[in-house]
Amino acid sequence: MIKVGLLGAGRIATVHATTISNHPLSNLAAVADINNTAALKIADRYGCEVKEIEEILRDQSINAVLIATSTNTHSDLLVRATAAGKAVLCEKPVDLDLARARECQSQIEKTGIPVMIGFNRRFDPNFSALQNALVGGEIGKPELLSITSFDPAPPPIEYVKSSGGLFKDMMIHDFDMANFIMGEIPKTISAFGTSIINPDIKEAGDIDTALVTMQYADGKLAIIKNSRRASYGYDQRLELLGSEGLLQAQNMSENTIVKSTENGVLGAKPTYFFLERYMTAFIAEWGAFMNVVTENKTIPVTMDDGVMALAMAEAAAKSLSNGALVHLSEI
Ligand SMILES: NC(=O)c1ccc[n+]([C@@H]2O[C@H](COP(=O)([O-])OP(=O)(O)OC[C@H]3O[C@@H](n4cnc5c(N)ncnc54)[C@H](O)[C@@H]3O)[C@@H](O)[C@H]2O)c1
Repeated sequence: MIKVGLLGAGRIATVHATTISNHPLSNLAAVADINNTAALKIADRYGCEVKEIEEILRDQSINAVLIATSTNTHSDLLVRATAAGKAVLCEKPVDLDLARARECQSQIEKTGIPVMIGFNRRFDPNFSALQNALVGGEIGKPELLSITSFDPAPPPIEYVKSSGGLFKDMMIHDFDMANFIMGEIPKTISAFGTSIINPDIKEAGDIDTALVTMQYADGKLAIIKNSRRASYGYDQRLELLGSEGLLQAQNMSENTIVKSTENGVLGAKPTYFFLERYMTAFIAEWGAFMNVVTENKTIPVTMDDGVMALAMAEAAAKSLSNGALVHLSEI
């Protein structure tokens, strides 16, 4: 049994507490958070102890930690946890600062401790089936990837202010998804962004609607569309045009009922937001991490993947600010 320490007791930590507790090979041993009330809530619900982070890292009986604290703590905790010999699953993004993320990467590589980054969407059964179909040659060579990722509603403005901006907080998932599907990183990135949903987001210096185009060494293209608001729910779709066909991953619906009357045909909305839409992916993500820890399997989402997605977010931010096409090699 792998004993796990959960660092953080917020929104996403609660999801992970469930996946850790439900997995047959892991046991949630302890939780730590500067918000003691939040930590106690998880401890009560899952029957684990509340400890300080340092206590968890010193505890020789704890084999692994899951970092689900606020983003600005990730790289520091990654370094401390790996130095303490704990295998780590760390939520995205690695850091908000690329130089710090790279420094963190070089420090943890020296330890040889397994670290996996929480790009959970790679474990979504639909998206991984699409990727498998491409790798299996079912649509020939990829030519144009389109990623649609719209949130149902903007987050609280306080969250926006500390999020690192749309590219590092939200589109980072889509940069990683493009890397996962295409199996390579793009050469160039250009970005357009605007703030048209909520004036507070603009005032905070962020954007809420964005478009990124990317070109690969052989000329193929990818486009990512993000919005912080879609009135009909959480819109998460992929479309990949290949030389011999098209692959599409559609939204998951709240139910499969379609009502047809003389007024028209009406179906259910997409499942609401990431907790509902990606619960299967979070479970599979933890299962994959357990395979790394217990069977020494290859790490499916590496620190390198985490740093690369951050570099792409930085390239997009640079393109947005100077209006130019950015070569990823400059970042
Ligand atoms: N993979 C995904 O789909 C996904 C979804 C949501 C959030 N996230 C990521 O997860 C992380 C947490 O996001 P969230 O939405 O759960 O935020 P949250 O604010 O709900 O939770 C963060 C928790 O970290 C705690 N914390 C902050 N600094 C700490 C410290 N130094 N020591 C101990 N605890 C500390 C806070 O008290 C809070 O309880 C972020 O990095 C975010 O980007 C990923």
